[in-house]
Amino acid sequence: AATLNDLAEQHGRYFGSAVDNPELSDTAYADLLGSEFGATTPGNGMKWDATEPQQGVFDYTKGDEIVAFAEAHHLKVRGHTLLWHNQLPNWLTSRTWTADQLRAVLKNHIHNVVTHYRGKVFAWDVANEIMNDDGSYRQNIFYTTIGPGYIADALRWAHEADPHVKLYLNDYNIDGIGAKSNAYYTLIQRLKAQGVPIDGLGFQGHLALQYGFPDEVQQNLQRFADLGVDVAFTELDIRMTLPSDPTKLAEQADWYGRITRACLAVRRCVGITLWGYSDRHSWIPSVFPGEGAALPWDEYLQPKPAYYAIREAL
Ligand code: XIL
Repeated sequence: AATLNDLAEQHGRYFGSAVDNPELSDTAYADLLGSEFGATTPGNGMKWDATEPQQGVFDYTKGDEIVAFAEAHHLKVRGHTLLWHNQLPNWLTSRTWTADQLRAVLKNHIHNVVTHYRGKVFAWDVANEIMNDDGSYRQNIFYTTIGPGYIADALRWAHEADPHVKLYLNDYNIDGIGAKSNAYYTLIQRLKAQGVPIDGLGFQGHLALQYGFPDEVQQNLQRFADLGVDVAFTELDIRMTLPSDPTKLAEQADWYGRITRACLAVRRCVGITLWGYSDRHSWIPSVFPGEGAALPWDEYLQPKPAYYAIREAL
């Protein structure tokens, strides 16, 4: 039978799933990941605390493990992420830096990591979650130390290290039209006007039934495509208050179908990545207590209504 990725490929898109390193030892899980999907993203393996645990000391063990799995199973890899306010190493967060010092630290990190994965990843989430929900810049260590110019700097340094890799910004709560996605619209417009290398915007798509479906998803994707960047769902999961029941699972299935159709309706929506594909391995229950059942396969790796809704949409 055709896989989700086979069906997506008929539209010139990919269908992927993130994976965290320990999950590769779950052989049933890894087998289905390798056969059903066409792309993967390391859930944690390429974050700063993993790749540069001591200043100037780089460790690519985890990222390389996922790249090797991906190569063995013909999956594309999205690199995630060069810069984020979470999962930074202690050496970086536990002291104060001057702007020039932190700029040098960021440049060295980006140059090293992007150079290492040149030709191995097709895209990088260069900067992750840099906006607040109200559309103001998040006051992360880079913003407060360097100022807003750190974003353009990071994109330029990534481009220097690999002129071919696609460079993305990536965030949550931007799937629909609203203050936060408007802020990205203005930022990308400005970056483009200044000739800063920016190729895409990643919509994490961490949705929750209890918050309602985001507004005007297709129009939102389209307005970014019209600015001249690719768009993608990069971390899709649709959680619910536990326990799940047939009504919630049907609504979840409907939402997965709607997201898939919105992406297919926009030519520059290049693909969809789930943040893990089964309820067996999902970040949701540990971060949102009482919530879960967010993925199209259940904890026994059996397809849920959401899986059939995605197939139907593709
Ligand atoms: C999550 C991982 O899945 C967890 O294992 C980790 O403990 C925390 O980070 N947005 C992102 C991802 O961009 O990197 C996050 O991944 C989920 C939210």
